[in-house]
Amino acid sequence: MTASLKLGVAGLGTVGAGLLQLIETHGERLAGVLPRPIEVDAVSARSRDKDRGVSLQGVRWFDDPVALASDADIDVFVELIGGEDGPAKAAVEAALANGKHVVTANKALLAKHGVALARLAEENKVSLNFEAAVAGGIPAIKTMREAFLPNAVSRVYGILNGTCNYILTVMEDEGRTFEDVLREAQDLGYAEADPTFDVGGFDAGHKLALMTSLAFGTEVAADQLHVEGIESITKADIEAACELGYRIKLLGVAMLTPSGIEARVHPAMISQHSAIAEVSGVTNCVALDGDFTGPLLLVGAGAGGGPTAAAVASDIIDVARGIVLPPFITPVARLKPHHRARIDEHCGAYYMRLSVLDEPGAMAAIAKCMGDQGVSLESVVQRREKKALPGSGMPHSEGAPATVIMVTHETTEDAIRRAVAAIESIEKVAAKPQVIRIEKL
Ligand code: HSE
Repeated sequence: MTASLKLGVAGLGTVGAGLLQLIETHGERLAGVLPRPIEVDAVSARSRDKDRGVSLQGVRWFDDPVALASDADIDVFVELIGGEDGPAKAAVEAALANGKHVVTANKALLAKHGVALARLAEENKVSLNFEAAVAGGIPAIKTMREAFLPNAVSRVYGILNGTCNYILTVMEDEGRTFEDVLREAQDLGYAEADPTFDVGGFDAGHKLALMTSLAFGTEVAADQLHVEGIESITKADIEAACELGYRIKLLGVAMLTPSGIEARVHPAMISQHSAIAEVSGVTNCVALDGDFTGPLLLVGAGAGGGPTAAAVASDIIDVARGIVLPPFITPVARLKPHHRARIDEHCGAYYMRLSVLDEPGAMAAIAKCMGDQGVSLESVVQRREKKALPGSGMPHSEGAPATVIMVTHETTEDAIRRAVAAIESIEKVAAKPQVIRIEKL
């Protein structure tokens, strides 16, 4: 009988327990189609007694994940502990150094140490597979590594954080504030107690850093991304976006430009008619532009026990099939340095929302700031602010605050930043301008 592929699974949270359930459910069927059956041989987790909905009878237990990673009997170390350093890193290094294949869902670890770990994997002729680290259940990495590999990729982008997409979707659908929906997302378990990592754009940044390396054959450079979160998006922006025919999404975008790789995570206005405008709630998407295939869009669950466990299992299946590839598609020795294009060189249209005192010369002063920087306006709308409407107790005549919404023609980020700095110094401008990039998809 063929020897089974023995797994050592470290971390039995939602994804780890999901993986064990998946193997229990589909192990026999998979054994019928793979060269070797897959067997959970050993596990390591914080608590031994927790009910994980699956029997651990006959499965060896390790308190120390590093000891599990180095165990002579396992073939594959599955790292589902999380964290960019600490036990996850020590265990993955130990596994690779001991000639074990590694499958991980740990985007933070790979964003920080991906190249060094890939080098170790290549030296030891083992796999370091991380399908589950990018957009959960969406097979983004396998698509780049396999079906899309014949293409030169010019751009990779997507909605890479379910928490942010959920918050923005509910803000739009129910007319609620960011703070209110964030609280709900925390209650529902979508957002962490400290939501900074998600809403600040950092989680999406890690995923984008990995996809950038895979798409363009460059070293992983998570610190070379421009990252903004969704914390500053207001109901007024969401309403204005709807009126202008846009929807606001937190996007991760990496593209080749003449001056380097422009990689950025930020809220963006996208046309309501674009396919990804329909990607709502916690759903994620990954899009690729290839020179032969053209555009490709993958949509699916970016998180959750089932989808993420299936992504982990798909990596284990590759090992069972004997497929060992360079972790970042391009062998480490041939990865190019990441040449970053400066964000001020970004070209695109912009949305701007200003709170302005409705007085003579206010609009002329704003328009001059834009004109001085060569920024051409596509549309301008001025409206009295709600708090200054009749019945609000506020004067609604000249001098009351008004909201000005402007959309520019295509320009550069540098020009917009200079124009905004000049606008901020106008006395009649009552608050810091809100600026959101408009993304052509
Ligand atoms: N916290 C992430 C999200 C899932 O909200 O999409 C894991 O990366």
